Amino acid sequence: MITLNVNGTPHTLDIDPSTPLLYALRNDLKLHGAKFGCGLGQCGACTVIVDGEATFSCLVPVSAIGARPVRTLEGLGSAAHPGALQNAFIKHQAAQCGYCIAGMVMRAQALLDKNPHPSEQELRDHMEPNLCRCGTHMRILAAVRDVAGIAQPHIETKAQR
Ligand code: FES
Repeated sequence: MITLNVNGTPHTLDIDPSTPLLYALRNDLKLHGAKFGCGLGQCGACTVIVDGEATFSCLVPVSAIGARPVRTLEGLGSAAHPGALQNAFIKHQAAQCGYCIAGMVMRAQALLDKNPHPSEQELRDHMEPNLCRCGTHMRILAAVRDVAGIAQPHIETKAQR
């Protein structure tokens, strides 16, 4: 038996200890925020927060989690009551296909939990491991800046030149 503490609730699961955390979240706990992208720790679609750290849940077996708390997108808010980051992602229309977004939100949340007002460079360095195949990185950064209180960079338009 494996006990996982997810979003503040303990769950005891009769699963193979080598099961990736991502599979336990999606298949056993029916928490479908975290996505399977590459399964190789290369895309970040599966990112959740484990004991305060942004973590690729596709790479971590449930046996390695122990008592450490796990947070998923579902722990930040709901469609009816989105959390601050979720609201900012909606405001900035940061999703195109949306597949990477849960991972992006969770990576950003891990940063803001530790450092509510990061610098632009700290923000960019922290978000770097997560990929968006649609290329909405600039909108994702804009959304996180809003919550972090970082000034948005001035983009000069042709009309202003
Ligand atoms: Fe985990 Fe890509 S699915 S990093």
